[in-house]
Amino acid sequence: MEKRTNQELMALRQEHVPAGPFNITPIFVKRAKGAIIEDVEGKEYIDFAGGIGVENVGHCAEQVVSAIKEQAEQFIHTCFHVAMYEPYVELARRMNEITPGDFPKKTFFVNSGAEAVENGVKIARYATKRAAIIAFQNAFHGRTYMALTLTSQIKPYKWGFGPFCPEVYRMPYAYCYRCPFGLKYPACEIYCADYLEEFFINTVAADAVAAVIAEPVQGEGGFIVPPAEYFKRIKAICENHGILLIMDEIQSGMGRTGKLFACEHFDVIPDIILTGKSIAVGLPLAGVTGRAEIMDAPHVGGLGGTYGGNPISCRAALAVLDLLQGELLEKAVQLGEKVRARFLNLQEEYKIIGDVRGLGPMIGMELVKDRASKEPAGDEAGELVKRCYEKGLIVLRCGAYHNVIRILMPLVITDDELERGFAILEDRLKEIA
Ligand SMILES: Cc1ncc(COP(=O)(O)O)c(C=O)c1O
Repeated sequence: MEKRTNQELMALRQEHVPAGPFNITPIFVKRAKGAIIEDVEGKEYIDFAGGIGVENVGHCAEQVVSAIKEQAEQFIHTCFHVAMYEPYVELARRMNEITPGDFPKKTFFVNSGAEAVENGVKIARYATKRAAIIAFQNAFHGRTYMALTLTSQIKPYKWGFGPFCPEVYRMPYAYCYRCPFGLKYPACEIYCADYLEEFFINTVAADAVAAVIAEPVQGEGGFIVPPAEYFKRIKAICENHGILLIMDEIQSGMGRTGKLFACEHFDVIPDIILTGKSIAVGLPLAGVTGRAEIMDAPHVGGLGGTYGGNPISCRAALAVLDLLQGELLEKAVQLGEKVRARFLNLQEEYKIIGDVRGLGPMIGMELVKDRASKEPAGDEAGELVKRCYEKGLIVLRCGAYHNVIRILMPLVITDDELERGFAILEDRLKEIA
C-alpha cells in the first residue's frame, strides 16, 4: 500500500467515510504490539484504551497471531451451518467450562457484541414464552435495533434513530455516586435492587418479563460498579418470578476485572452470559452462553448467521483463553491495584476527581466541577483526553455526562509503559484542574 501521512489519510476518510462513525484520535495506525500503538508517521502512543476493551491480552500476542496464521492457511470459511469445524465446538466447550455455574451449558457464536445481545434476547423470549425485557439506566448494549433500544443514553447513540423496539422497560441502576433514589450506601439497604418488585406493580407485570439484562460493571455508562450484594438480590427476585438474568460481559468479561467474568465478583450466576470484545482480540466474535435447556429452546434453524463463529476468530479466541488461564489474570489483579492506588492518590490532590471506582483494572475516575454539587466536568474530561493524546497517551472517557476517564489498557502493559502513561495523565490533569 502507498505510504501516506495521517493528514492525507484523514482527507481520504473525510471524503469517503460518513461522519457518523466517530474517531477519538486523528491518527492512522501502522502497527501495534502489547500496549503500544505506532502511527503511519512512526509516532508511538501508550494505549490505555485497548481498542475499547478489546485488547486484554495485548496487541498482536504471538500465540494469537500464530493461531490466526495457521488457521488462515488451512481454511477461512465454510459457514458453520454448511460444514462444521473443530475450533467452533472446542471453543464452545471451553466457554461452557469457564463461565460461572455448575450445570450443563451451551454456547452459540456470532460476530459482534450487539448481535450477542440480540440473540440473548431471542433465546430468553423463546425459552420463557414472554416478551418483556428489563434493562437499566446508563446501560450500553450496542447499536443494532434491539441492542440500541436496550441502550439507555440518548445522545449520541439513540438520537434521531427511533422508533425503537417494543416491550423494553428501564430500571434505575445502582449508581451509588449519583443514587437515583437519593439514598446512601449502606444505609439504603440496596433499595435499588428491591425496587424491582415495585417495578412489577407499576411498570410491567413480572409474569410478562422474559429477562433482566445487566452489565455487571456498566462500561459506556460510566464504569459504574454496584454494591457487592446487588446482583444476588436482583437474581433472587428474578428467580421468584421465573425471569432469566442475562449478564452482558462484553466489556467487563475476559479478564478485564481481574477475574474471567465480572459477575464472579458478585457471586451471582446468570442464566445467560454474553461475551465479545476481548474474546478474540479484535477478530469479529461474540458468544451467547447459557443453561443448556434455555439455549436448546429455539427450534433448529431459529438461530444462525453466515459468519458467526468463523474459524479464524475461534482459533484466536482459543489462544486468548490459553493466555487468560495462564498468568495473565494474576497480573491483571496487580495492575488493578496499581491503577487504583494511583487514582486514589490523584483524587487526594485534585478536587476535579469526584469519584474513583472500578473492579480490578477496569477503573474509572469521574470528573466534577465541584465535589459538593457533583456538577459533571464533561468538557474538562474531553480536554484531558485530547491533551493526553497530543502527548502520546490514548485514553477514553465515558458516562452519561461524558465525564468519566476510563482505563482499558492491555493487561500485558509493562511497568515502564504504565509509569509513562500515568505521568502524561497526571501532568495533563494538573493543567486542567
Ligand atoms: C457492555 C457492552 N455490550 C454490548 C456492546 C456492543 O458490542 P459491539 O460493539 O461489538 O456490537 C458493547 C460495546 O461497547 C458493550 O460495551
